[in-house]
Amino acid sequence: MNVIVTFREYVMTSIENDKPINGKPRILLLSGSTRRLSYNTRLARHMALTVEQAGGNATLISLADYPMAIYHADDEAQFGLPESARQLRALFKSHHGVFFASPEENSSISALLKNTLDWVSRADGDEPGKVPYIGKVAAIGGATTGASGTRLGLLHLRTVLSGLGMLVLPSVMTIPFAANAFDDAGLLQSEEQRAAAEALALSLVRTARAVGVSS
Ligand SMILES: Cc1cc2nc3c(=O)[nH]c(=O)nc-3n(C[C@H](O)[C@H](O)[C@H](O)COP(=O)(O)O)c2cc1C
Repeated sequence: MNVIVTFREYVMTSIENDKPINGKPRILLLSGSTRRLSYNTRLARHMALTVEQAGGNATLISLADYPMAIYHADDEAQFGLPESARQLRALFKSHHGVFFASPEENSSISALLKNTLDWVSRADGDEPGKVPYIGKVAAIGGATTGASGTRLGLLHLRTVLSGLGMLVLPSVMTIPFAANAFDDAGLLQSEEQRAAAEALALSLVRTARAVGVSS
């Protein structure tokens, strides 16, 4: 059994061990909103179906199932990681790629998503904090009722995910005027947006397959 003692050793070992995947790459999908009628959750769901069509194995989760208090260093020192953070760390580690759909809140990402990313980035015992993220492929998107399509928020999301060690794909999925974007089944209506979703899903699945990082 390999015992990894430093972060650098972890990165080197995972690079040595990783090979392109023969089977379907596993793609985790989540929304940065738990609002009951969330447009971002609809976008994540649309992308989950599209990822499956593109040859990936999609796991769609709701952050409502992973409740966590706002990160507080004193709580962490006293109680350690919340169980939800531990569960999410395991989920991230068992997938090759992740799709994030984030609302734009005051020109940035949602507080819920940032809090989740922060908790999941904390060390768990001897395991360095960023292990669940390193080398994983990320695709990002967002839906808003406004005209901007979350472009400013996605710039922040790209920065945060890159800082965590993820490989963020250049294309993004932006859904402006989201109140009119989805049909009764909760799927994107416009041909243009469906085509953009297909292209992004294909890129995510292909890149995740080629990079092959899962630990
Ligand atoms: C505190 C707050 C700040 C917001 N800031 C922005 C913003 O900067 N840009 C934008 O396009 N929409 C903004 N919105 C609107 C949200 O993008 C919109 O409510 C969206 O539907 C929320 O995502 P959801 O439908 O997935 O819950 C803001 C909403 C809230 C509550």
